[in-house]
Amino acid sequence: SLRAFSTSALRQKEVENVTVFGGGLMGSGIAQVLAHEGNYNVTLADVTEDALVKGKSIMQKSLTRIAKKKMADQSAEAQEQFVKSIVDKVQTTTDAAQAVKSSDLVIEAIIENIKIKQDLFKFLDSKAPDSCIFTTNTSSLSVKDVAQSSNRPDRFGGFHAFNPVPQMKLVEIIKTDQTSEETFETLMNVARKMKKQPVACTDAPGFIVNRLLVPYLLEAIRLVERGEATAEDVDIAMKLGAGHPMGPIQLADFVGLDTLSHISKGWRESRVSTGEISADIVQESKLLEDLVAQGRTGKKSDKGGFYPA
Ligand code: 3HC
Repeated sequence: SLRAFSTSALRQKEVENVTVFGGGLMGSGIAQVLAHEGNYNVTLADVTEDALVKGKSIMQKSLTRIAKKKMADQSAEAQEQFVKSIVDKVQTTTDAAQAVKSSDLVIEAIIENIKIKQDLFKFLDSKAPDSCIFTTNTSSLSVKDVAQSSNRPDRFGGFHAFNPVPQMKLVEIIKTDQTSEETFETLMNVARKMKKQPVACTDAPGFIVNRLLVPYLLEAIRLVERGEATAEDVDIAMKLGAGHPMGPIQLADFVGLDTLSHISKGWRESRVSTGEISADIVQESKLLEDLVAQGRTGKKSDKGGFYPA
């Protein structure tokens, strides 16, 4: 019985309170699904009230879409009530320490910058309970590098969701060589509770999806740049010839041309010399860089990207 006691004492507390950092598209999407499908107590944290207001409006729009579809036979009032109930369920704060005070799980979805992420986790490490698991939604950085800033590398993993989060069924759970089995299992279960399909991956560059997707999108852009086909024809080809929901040029606009440029630049600078990524698949595209320089970053910009806004 002593043994039973010690095992249960070591066992991580069941996740109830989840804190999401970052009110952007990814963070607000994750917060929404945690509250809606996972029924978790969710706190969304960001540095400004403005960012939190934006995050709530992203959730509002997405939930309105879901309500229209799932509650088609119900009144507009009932649909509005549903949307409001989920949006209201997500608490918001600009106080990072307060946000993690009783948190069981932190999901970080802030700017894709290693130093800023490390600074956040360094701060949170002394504010969150010891049992709290830290995760990053990074798409291109090393999870282990981010985890280094905390004193809990065993309670640290990657939790990588996809845009649009409410619609995309996948979450990649990234296990570094220091992530404990228990942390990994907890994260797999949180993803399942969100009604997502988790897959496991090591801390390799781009994990599974971006490792394949980023070189593919870059090659599609270079194909257009070389004048081999128009953007429109590349998209038609991959939609009708390979059954993809979006063609690669449309998807590049959707992901954000700045994001794509940022990921590939980061890989060129830090993953080619280590031999993790071969140089040819992340070769710079002048066309991509020119569009980004003109502020044509894709769907998120008024100027559009390859396609008009
Ligand atoms: N919230 C809720 N529901 C949404 C939504 C949102 N934000 N966006 C789309 N949907 C739903 C729609 O309501 C619709 O539902 P239904 O089929 O049940 O009626 C469904 O999604 C399809 O939407 P649409 O009819 O408007 O348009 P599409 O059929 O073109 O689907 C799409 C949109 C789901 C975005 C689809 O085009 C798609 O899957 N595209 C590829 C997206 C993709 O690859 N994402 C990953 C990007 S990589 C990434 O995120 C990683 C990062 O690290 C870079």
